[in-house]
Amino acid sequence: MLIIVDDVLNEHALREFRAAYDHLPFGDGRATAGDRAAAVKRNLQLANDTPQHAALTALVHAAIGACAAFMSAALPVQISPPLFNRYLPGMAFGQHVDNAIRIDGDQPLRADVSATLMLSDDTDYQGGDLVIEDTFGERRIRLKAGSMVIYASSSLHRVDPVVSGQRDVVVFWAQSMVRDLSQRATLYRLDQTIRSLRQRDADAPEIDALMATYNNLLRMWAEV
Ligand code: NI
Repeated sequence: MLIIVDDVLNEHALREFRAAYDHLPFGDGRATAGDRAAAVKRNLQLANDTPQHAALTALVHAAIGACAAFMSAALPVQISPPLFNRYLPGMAFGQHVDNAIRIDGDQPLRADVSATLMLSDDTDYQGGDLVIEDTFGERRIRLKAGSMVIYASSSLHRVDPVVSGQRDVVVFWAQSMVRDLSQRATLYRLDQTIRSLRQRDADAPEIDALMATYNNLLRMWAEV
């Protein structure tokens, strides 16, 4: 499962980020990585003890909360605090799988879904592709500012070295109500189908039956 969502952050939010970002303290990104990931992680990360960090976190959480595609794909029961990462030329994050459990929030979180929200445009830097490997093969992700990629936390992935420019991203994780990836993918596809059908014909009688099926599957599979 790999989903790309555009316009998660609008122009106004992106401007707020850019205005704040140039004055903020970035430190070594290895502070929040597990042992093995830390060995391959070379980036900078916004210090989390600043007032700006709290304000930007609130901005990200509001944008995610308003993102119907993320809610549908992730079915989050808990969302981690975001990490604000910066990659300058030569920086990269080698192949790794994200830690299963994250303990940087108020309570431990099982990472089921990973997300990267772009603050830089893909034209702002060369190199720096996010490369995600999964059963579908290898996908190279380059997106415009404000777009987000959502993928299974079980996927191997890496960030190729940035060659020039600057790559700013927000990364975060969600624990899903539905732990099993194939069940989550089934619910996402069904939800998208219902939305599409409603757009075409809001009064279609099949909608009620499909919505009942969606809710009954969710009832069977969700843990809250
Ligand atoms: Ni990762």
